[in-house]
Amino acid sequence: MAKLLTILCLGDIIGEGGRSAIAAKLTALKAAYTVDFTIANGENAAGGFGITRDVANELFTVGIDAITSGNHIWKSKDVFAMIAEEKRLLRPFNYPEGAPGNGFTVFTVGEYKIGVLNLLGRTFMDPVDCPFRRGAHAVRLIQRETNIIIVDFHAEATAEKQALGYHLDGTVSAVVGTHTHVQTADEHILPKGTAYMSDLGMCGGEFSIIGMKKDPALKRFLTYLPHKFEVEREQPMINGCVIRIDADTGRAAGIERVLVRHGQ
Ligand SMILES: [Fe+2]
Ligand SMILES: [Fe+2]
Repeated sequence: MAKLLTILCLGDIIGEGGRSAIAAKLTALKAAYTVDFTIANGENAAGGFGITRDVANELFTVGIDAITSGNHIWKSKDVFAMIAEEKRLLRPFNYPEGAPGNGFTVFTVGEYKIGVLNLLGRTFMDPVDCPFRRGAHAVRLIQRETNIIIVDFHAEATAEKQALGYHLDGTVSAVVGTHTHVQTADEHILPKGTAYMSDLGMCGGEFSIIGMKKDPALKRFLTYLPHKFEVEREQPMINGCVIRIDADTGRAAGIERVLVRHGQ
């Protein structure tokens, strides 16, 4: 029987609360699912916006193998100094030509190779290069090395995410979404064998407005005056999914939602 590879994918890590939940629980979570490789979106890991060298290293140390990102990737100056040489930290592949860093990396895990590709949506977001065409191009490049490919599509609109899922169906092992910070319940395997989930959710305070303290965020909507966002550190949950992949074919054998609440 073919080896099944188990990949854990975690939604956007929101500041210190999300990081503390991961530091406390990741080892047990990986053991419970016999995880071979862990990917997390780190675009909000430093103070709620962006990521720094120290925070990235902290996440690698606690057991994350690959960090994907999104529209907040350029927030910290630190990133520009590290992203070219730190291949475990990805920025979306479809930023215009000339952006520093890597949009995909092929990782060696034992005798297997796992490609991780990061793409950014355009609907209700900045008009970066086409994620469909650039995404398919990146997949062809990765396929020279492996057919085990995980795509983190960091996008706002569910329709755009579903469309990319079908666009890449049968060419990658999984398309999972990030960015909305709200977990969707639509994990399934597409007709040609690609695992799909519109949004992994977030690793951050459960009783928040997409990871930020609810009072300032609510005041913004009530007053339309500037109120500073603050990360909600209390009661952080872990959101993501576990994907099982046939290592011979790269096809998904299963996808399961992961939600670990504070106190669980
Ligand atoms: Fe985010
Ligand atoms: Fe985002």
